[in-house]
Amino acid sequence: MLRALLLYLSEARSLRAMAERSSIGRRLSGRFVAGTGVEDALRVTAVLNRAGLSVSIDNLGENVTTAEEARQAAELYRQLLCEVSRKKLNANVSLKLTHMGLDVDPQLALDNVEALVSQAATMDPPNFVRVDMEGSAYTDRTLDLVSKLHEKPENRQRLGAVIQSYLRSSEKDVARLLERGIRIRLCKGAYNEPPEIAFQAKAEVDANYVRLMRTLLKSGAYHGLATHDENIVREAQVFAKRENISKDSFEFQMLYGIRRDLQQELVRDGWRMRVYVPFGAEWYPYLMRRLAERPANLLFVLKNLLRS
Ligand code: FDA
Repeated sequence: MLRALLLYLSEARSLRAMAERSSIGRRLSGRFVAGTGVEDALRVTAVLNRAGLSVSIDNLGENVTTAEEARQAAELYRQLLCEVSRKKLNANVSLKLTHMGLDVDPQLALDNVEALVSQAATMDPPNFVRVDMEGSAYTDRTLDLVSKLHEKPENRQRLGAVIQSYLRSSEKDVARLLERGIRIRLCKGAYNEPPEIAFQAKAEVDANYVRLMRTLLKSGAYHGLATHDENIVREAQVFAKRENISKDSFEFQMLYGIRRDLQQELVRDGWRMRVYVPFGAEWYPYLMRRLAERPANLLFVLKNLLRS
């Protein structure tokens, strides 16, 4: 009930505008968002790198409505990739197609992402662009775009997709991506989806995650297991050991500020761990989705407010 309300509020435009403009709002988001500027993301990345964690940096933003906004978003990612390389950080980038202009003009989004992937491919060392997955209205278009760009030999392994285990179609989509050798981040899924297309019960979403996780780990390509679910993390560790899958042939991924204890434990035990670090002024929908996943986070958020 609370989850549904928070997900509903995550799409409330007027609330979003008010929250993002207020200084209280920015303080509230501090636990889960690195800050508003590129320098904040780079600073947090350097700290995480020093602790043995790799990073994926995400500039918060989605559903832009003009070509100019999409170009500005792509330009910021261009600068980000340059800075990561200049500062020799261990970080790639994550982006959303609707931030790159998918709703404005699919060709614009394709051009923006292609330019970033080319940049990542020619960097020293080469970098990587992860295309986040949004609501189900975008699933096919997102996978098509990633597949199309990945077909070009110079882009191979330089971009990857995301699969959500709550979608009933994910098994088929995983098979399609694996055929093409595309790297996958597996997550449960963060949007409000109807029962026709998405499992509703946590047990079903989790069971599908574990099924897909096994397929990915046995595929031989380098994938990311994005979850804070300790049971699933343990299951992956046991499976990898049993199947002789080496610790460096895949990575765990978690969100900035969530289960930091588990993140550190995994690094200590020699597993690869990547932290997804979001930054930017447009933090409202992201924060609301995190609160929806775990309404107890409201307490963290309120503590942040009291502390400052
Ligand atoms: P689940 O929600 O079942 O939670 C399991 C346990 O994890 C909880 O009991 C709690 O202990 C902990 N936990 C989970 N969420 C928490 C939170 N917000 N705060 C504190 N503790 C929490 N989604 C998507 O649709 N498209 C995408 O591209 C991505 N990308 C992405 C990248 C990375 C690196 C991660 C980790 C996640 C995503 N997601 C995503 C979000 C994902 O789909 C999912 O909504 C969240 O990860 C929560 O699901 P869990 O797997 O953590 O399990």
